[in-house]
Amino acid sequence: MSETNTLQTPTWTSRWTFIMATTGAAVGLGNIWKFPYIAGENGGGAFVLMYLGCILLLGVPIMIAETMLGRKGRENPVHAMLKHARSVDASKAWSFIGIMGVAAGIMILMYYSVVAGWALEYVFQSATSSYIGKPSADIAEGFSTLSADTGRQLMWHSIFMAGTALIVALGVTKGIGKAVNILMPMLFLLLLMLLGYAYENGEFSQALSFMFTADFSKLTGDVVLIAMGHAFFTLSLGMGTVMVYGSYMPQNASIPSAIITVAFLDTLIALVAGMTIFPLVFASGLEPASGPGLLFKTLPIAFSTMWNGAFFGAGFFLLVAIAALSSSISLIEPGIAWLEKLGVNRIAAALGLALFCWLGGVASIYTTEVFDKLDYITANIMLPLGGLLIAVFVGWKLGFTRSRKEISEISGGLFNLWFVVIRFIAPLGVLIIFAKSLGLI
Ligand code: TRP
Repeated sequence: MSETNTLQTPTWTSRWTFIMATTGAAVGLGNIWKFPYIAGENGGGAFVLMYLGCILLLGVPIMIAETMLGRKGRENPVHAMLKHARSVDASKAWSFIGIMGVAAGIMILMYYSVVAGWALEYVFQSATSSYIGKPSADIAEGFSTLSADTGRQLMWHSIFMAGTALIVALGVTKGIGKAVNILMPMLFLLLLMLLGYAYENGEFSQALSFMFTADFSKLTGDVVLIAMGHAFFTLSLGMGTVMVYGSYMPQNASIPSAIITVAFLDTLIALVAGMTIFPLVFASGLEPASGPGLLFKTLPIAFSTMWNGAFFGAGFFLLVAIAALSSSISLIEPGIAWLEKLGVNRIAAALGLALFCWLGGVASIYTTEVFDKLDYITANIMLPLGGLLIAVFVGWKLGFTRSRKEISEISGGLFNLWFVVIRFIAPLGVLIIFAKSLGLI
């Protein structure tokens, strides 16, 4: 294993530690901010169904494969792939998976940090009761004011990036990982409380039918692509994060059951976030397709009339920012681990990459197009492509026997099923969705 990589403890003390840490990387803005807003933009039910299908059919099997490559490789993604390629006499070009992953992580962080900054702004607004007691329309308008205030976004984005840089530079990501293990269950409890509020005060049944009644006429090629892209994004899949985490998994722990647990928790949180936000959307006359501001327009409406809303609002958005922090660390860490292996010192690597991400964030604040493009290209193209290549590498290069040695805990039948998915179904599935979005089929 790489000694320089301090993402987590050298060897997981237990399977549960792996599950908690990987869930910490997986659960973030993707679940609470992105999922509800893109589900709203893409018509609800059919999109949600596609997303769930992609988690099950592509996400979980490929995540098992990526974790396996990580546990076997025990290196940063680039060198892990080089090592694997060498061991099976495949081309060194397979390290492209790692290189593209490092690039994707950095590109995601460029806009991710801006959104985390919005969460920080709402910690501030909640704590100072600035929206408490205001009419819903004014609260929703508050987000538009923030979108137009580049200076303020710049300030929060800078604070968030500085925090991320500091943590990875000092190599104290382990401590954050530990803290997250307590804070994430707290976030989940707060979310459940909000769900209760939305059930009591929102249009709950309308929200459920929006989210779970599938109107397949809404499934255009692009909608399917976005659903697949989000499945990868929310699981932190296809770019080496899972590989890095997998490299610290003990040899005797079962990868499939751990991954299924992580995927289940991640999906549960996204669905609860959606079931909380949409009842408030419909009750306050907002549009489901309100775009990236959806979370920040709706939840403050709930906090504004809730008992101790300023306190719960500040707590909730702070926990969202912390969830984003544990994800942002996992976005930048593969790049840092790689640079360290190339001889760059950790502090220089962290500051350099963070500065680069910060500049990208500044561009996304000033130009929505940069923000949108970074999101679209990474989630919908780079991550699924990374996942496709991981599946092809495991299915066709590593092969059946070597994979079976790594994943020996499950029954032969289940293993065969997984292997068929990895060798044929997952690569084909990603290709078909790519082709459909390009209008080729
Ligand atoms: N999954 C995280 C979220 O939902 C974001 C994230 C962290 C990520 N690490 C990643 C996305 C690696 C893609 C790849 O917020």
